[in-house]
Amino acid sequence: MSQNSHPHPSAETEPAPPALEAQGLTKKYPVSGGPFGHDATVHALTDVSFVLDPGRTLAVVGESGCGKSTLARQVTLIEEPTDGGLFIDGKAVAFADKVAVRAARRNVQIIFQDPYGSLNPRWKVRTILEEPLVINTTLSRSERHERVMEMMARVGLRPEFATRYPHMFSGGQRQRIAIARALMLNPRVVVADEPVSALDVSVQAQVLNLLMDLQRDFGVAFLFISHDLSVVRHICQDVMVMYLGRVAEMGPKEVIFDAPAHPYTQALMAATPKLNPSERKTRQPLRGELPSPLAPPPGCAFHARCPLAVDICRTVIPELVSVAGRRVACHRAEEALAIQ
Ligand SMILES: Nc1ncnc2c1ncn2[C@@H]1O[C@H](COP(=O)(O)OP(=O)(O)OP(=O)(O)O)[C@@H](O)[C@H]1O
Ligand code: SF4
Ligand SMILES: [Mg+2]
Repeated sequence: MSQNSHPHPSAETEPAPPALEAQGLTKKYPVSGGPFGHDATVHALTDVSFVLDPGRTLAVVGESGCGKSTLARQVTLIEEPTDGGLFIDGKAVAFADKVAVRAARRNVQIIFQDPYGSLNPRWKVRTILEEPLVINTTLSRSERHERVMEMMARVGLRPEFATRYPHMFSGGQRQRIAIARALMLNPRVVVADEPVSALDVSVQAQVLNLLMDLQRDFGVAFLFISHDLSVVRHICQDVMVMYLGRVAEMGPKEVIFDAPAHPYTQALMAATPKLNPSERKTRQPLRGELPSPLAPPPGCAFHARCPLAVDICRTVIPELVSVAGRRVACHRAEEALAIQ
C-alpha cells in the first residue's frame, strides 16, 4: 500500500500543516434534571487547545469523567463542538459545511476501547475492512480485496481470518481488526480512546508495539487517550493532562514525567506505582472526588483536592502559562516544581 500518499502540492516550499489542531475547543451538554430538577449544563470540555504534528503521538490522560472521550468525539467529527476551532490537515472542520466535513472524516479515524462493540458482528472481517474503501474510493472489487489482504498482513492477521466473524477472535485480534479498519484510508490522524485498557497486560504490549510500527510506516498522527500513565509513557512524545474538561498541564513527555509541575499531574504519578520510584515518596496521591462538571467549582477546579491550594486558587481560574519547558495551569506551579 502506498504510504503517505496524501497530495501536498506545496510540500517542497511550505512546511506540512499540523495533522490536527484544536483552538479553544469547548463542549457543553444541556441536560434536564440537574440540581433541584432544573435544566443544567455539563461542562465536559472547556477551552482545550493543542497542536499535533504528522507522525507524532499526543497522549491525553486524566481520571474518569475528565472529558477525554468528549474530546475524541469532537476531534473525530462524531459531534460538533459548542465553541472553538478544529483543523485537520490545516483545514477548518468545526462549523464547516457538509462537504468539507465529509472530506475531513476520512482523514480522522477512531479506535475504541471495546472493538467488539464497534465491529459489526454480522460482517466477516473482509467486509468490515472493505467498507471504508467501498464508501470513499472508486477502487475495483479486486483492488479492494488486494488492499484488505495487504492490511491484514500488516497488522498480523492471517489471510484465512478474512472470512471469519468478529466473535471468533480474541480481544487482541479484534483490536488488530479495528486498527486495520482505521488505517484503510491512510488517514492523517487516528484517535485511540483507551485502545488497550480492556486487554491483558501481555497483549497490551503487542498492540502498543503494533501501533508504533504502523505509525512509522504510515506517518499517521495519534491522539492516544488513556487513564494509565505507564501505558502512555511507552507510546507518546507529548502529554496533555486534563482535569474536569480543562488542560492542567501539557508538554514533552520527558519534561512532564521527569518533573511534573501541576499538583494534579504529581498526584496522578504518585498513584501509578510503576512511575513512582522511592525517591519520589514525598508526592501525595489523589484524595477526594472529581467535582461535578454540572457545577464546576470557582477558581482552580482542583482546589478542594490540592495540598498547595491558597486563597487565590478558590477564586481565580489559573491560565495555561509556560513554566520550565511545558504549559501548566496552576497559580503555584513554580512552588510545586520546587518541592517535589
Ligand atoms: N452526551 C452527554 N450528555 C451529558 N453529559 C455527558 C455526555 N457525554 C459525556 N458527558 C459527561 O461529560 C463528562 C466527561 O465525560 P467523558 O466521557 O468525556 O470522560 P472520560 O474522560 O472519557 O471518562 P472515562 O475515563 O470514564 O472514559 C462526564 O461528566 C460525562 O458524564
Ligand atoms: S492553582 Fe492552586 S489549587 Fe490549583 S493546582 Fe495550583 S496550587 Fe493547586
Ligand atoms: Mg472515556
